[in-house]
Amino acid sequence: MTSALIYSRITGTGSYLPTNKLSNADLATLLAKDGIETSDEWIVERTGIRNRHFAAADQSASDLALPACVSALQAAGKVAGDVDLIICATSTPDMVFPSTAAILQHKLGQFYEQKSTIDGMESAQNATKSIADKSIAGCPAFDVQAVCSGFVYALTVADAMIKTGAAKCALVVGTEVFSRILDFKDRTTCVLFGDGAGAVVLEASSEPGLLASELHADGKHVGVLCTPGTVSGGQILGDPTLKMDGQAVFKLAVGVLADVARSVLAKAGKTEADIDWLIPHQANIRIMLGTAKKLKLPESKVIVTVADHGNTSAASIPLALDHGVRSGQIKKGETLMLEGVGGGFTWGAVLLEL
Ligand code: ACO
Repeated sequence: MTSALIYSRITGTGSYLPTNKLSNADLATLLAKDGIETSDEWIVERTGIRNRHFAAADQSASDLALPACVSALQAAGKVAGDVDLIICATSTPDMVFPSTAAILQHKLGQFYEQKSTIDGMESAQNATKSIADKSIAGCPAFDVQAVCSGFVYALTVADAMIKTGAAKCALVVGTEVFSRILDFKDRTTCVLFGDGAGAVVLEASSEPGLLASELHADGKHVGVLCTPGTVSGGQILGDPTLKMDGQAVFKLAVGVLADVARSVLAKAGKTEADIDWLIPHQANIRIMLGTAKKLKLPESKVIVTVADHGNTSAASIPLALDHGVRSGQIKKGETLMLEGVGGGFTWGAVLLEL
């Protein structure tokens, strides 16, 4: 008799950054053309950001997600046909509809069927290891919109679907092209964000995996961080660029992150001392280290990628996770606290054993 698969477990991670990398100095030069002043010194001191990547004009969120997913599948020893659920966290979808997840599903199917190559990864090579005899087409695929908390929301939903038996092998991806919604005349926001994608394969398992999670939202703070524009009657109504009250966001973020992490630890019967790695949403080094301090975690236990990626919203946590795994910092069996905070206001945390 086989044991019940009551847990979910991450079996592979992947990520992708567009090739166009801009340093703070590059951005300062770009903004100066419109008479807007900024400096490497100001950006590094306030945020810790040194570089960010911007997608090419013809690259959409699903295009960035594709190589991240292929890389995660390869790490898990899976191919697209093994996947029976796709959840995509994004606030910068390819279209109003259909979902970026549905578009991604089709691109993944095409990639594996055509035996293509992407970033040195070959679908044909993967296919020899495949246990799948079916297509990815037909599996449920949908987007989750929780801005920078999107990945922890998506992971929690995928975990719940695996625990109910609705899925056995999920692709959970965070992908963003925030460069498309930035106002490059507003130096208080346009220096903060970047583009990228990160993905995990989450599989049913008889061993834990995801230990506990918690999600929150409080819609009364909608105005502190939003992109208010919408489409109506063939026109864009309202401003389609990102607006933020930076100081309000700072206060809200620092207030909720340590609390939600402690609550998730209590649910799992663990303490701060059990955390091997804190993988926070990469918005701002001061928020990240402030949270670590409240959790009595040394800086050396925090995965930090914000310097090179900027704030990639829903992509930032899986990007940081993949970076930590591939750099050899994070090892199998270690306990990770993932936590996100963002527009909505939304926040949440996931505790897991890798
Ligand atoms: N370059 C140079 N000067 C700037 C820039 C810039 N890019 N942006 C603002 N300034 C100036 C302002 O004009 C202001 O000048 P003044 O004193 O002459 O008026 C001065 O710097 C201070 O501006 P503040 O807005 O008060 O700067 P603050 O110290 O609050 O820092 C920041 C701004 C970094 C956004 C901060 O509020 C913060 O870290 N907030 C957290 C928000 C965050 O990280 N958001 C990310 C997205 S949200 C999320 O992911 C959850």
